Amino acid sequence: MAKLNIFVGTMYGGALDVAEQVKPLFEEVGYEVDIIEQPKLEDLAESEAELCLFCVSTTGSGDFPGNFVPFIRALHDQSPSLSSVRYGLIALGDSSYGETFCGSGRELDRLLEEHGATRLGERLEIDAMETFMADDAAVPWVEEWIDDQQLKVD
Ligand SMILES: Cc1cc2nc3c(=O)[nH]c(=O)nc-3n(C[C@H](O)[C@H](O)[C@H](O)COP(=O)(O)O)c2cc1C
Repeated sequence: MAKLNIFVGTMYGGALDVAEQVKPLFEEVGYEVDIIEQPKLEDLAESEAELCLFCVSTTGSGDFPGNFVPFIRALHDQSPSLSSVRYGLIALGDSSYGETFCGSGRELDRLLEEHGATRLGERLEIDAMETFMADDAAVPWVEEWIDDQQLKVD
């Protein structure tokens, strides 16, 4: 069965909520889905999953949530080739933070690309100033992502 790993970076649980809400959409189209709440680099670099989705919020001044910091440190330290990785990215943020809006999602996207991974489609940025429940933006985006990128496997 095709595998999808959803990597979560969250402070207050919003990004985890998004992961939990979109998980069934992937199951319906044939994936076995794991939500990874304490991501390690091995979960990405040594995984046989066909596809990954990152759901990552921003804290501090454009910083990664604490649970995501070990992943980013390992990516900097080990700098593996991620050329077999295909991913989607949902960034949660708040535009009232100005230029650090979705800073961690944007930085993660840059790092993944720098290491050879391929993003499928555009990054989704969810602005808490505009969208009260992040799922309201994430669920339709994932439905469209699955269609546009022809990700259905069954
Ligand atoms: C202390 C704090 C700092 C934040 N800093 C930023 C920031 O720099 N940039 C941004 O876009 N959003 C920032 N946010 C907004 C969060 O990213 C946003 O509320 C997000 O939906 C939280 O998701 P989570 O529940 O998964 O942690 C901050 C929120 C808090 C509470």
